Amino acid sequence: MRIDIITVLPELLKSPFEASILKRAIEAGLVSIHFHNLREYTTDNYKSIDDTQFGGGAGMVMMVEPIDKCISKLKSERDYDEVIYMTPDGNTLNQGIANQLSLKENIIILCGHYKGVDQRVRDHFITREISIGDYVLSGGELGAAVLCDAVIRLIPGVLGNETSALTDSFQDNLLAPPIYTRPRDYKGWKVPEVLFSGNFPEIEKWREEQAYQRTKDRRPDLLDE
Ligand code: ADE
Repeated sequence: MRIDIITVLPELLKSPFEASILKRAIEAGLVSIHFHNLREYTTDNYKSIDDTQFGGGAGMVMMVEPIDKCISKLKSERDYDEVIYMTPDGNTLNQGIANQLSLKENIIILCGHYKGVDQRVRDHFITREISIGDYVLSGGELGAAVLCDAVIRLIPGVLGNETSALTDSFQDNLLAPPIYTRPRDYKGWKVPEVLFSGNFPEIEKWREEQAYQRTKDRRPDLLDE
């Protein structure tokens, strides 16, 4: 998978890709990340990327031209499956969206700033608008980092144990069950006996019950989906 990220603040985005699972995925050649600084696509001496709103009102709007130049250049080089715009009024990211995107070949992620982008960018270039939650960030970069992390870990081969993504919370609309490791008894806090039974159907059944109960208590909305 190839991900092209268009941003005015590439430095804000670099570190998540320089550690841990994402770094390994890049080194293994399973994903490549390319940053594009929007200021390099400006045409005036001031390298302006934003301007005031038509019709008045507070806040600056990201202009269509630099974004057009950047996206059009990328599209002239390869085909893209999705051009995603990070915005608080997009579809809220969930595991289903992450699963879908993990199957794509090439995607562009556009990070918004200020009040957002000129509507014509959304009308003519964007195929999908994603929010990472009902709150407003100062820019789309942190949202893009969250999206990339959620997607990249699902690409086959990225996680050491292939099954481990399948048992994550949300994969089947259930939260994950409780997990334990050594010691078996810590200060009298004991691990549930069933986990030592060696009876794997029994253990699986216990985990399913726990996952269901946890989901019912914490996120009953997931059970309606
Ligand atoms: N940009 C600003 N707020 C955002 C959010 N909640 N999700 C994605 N991008 C954003």
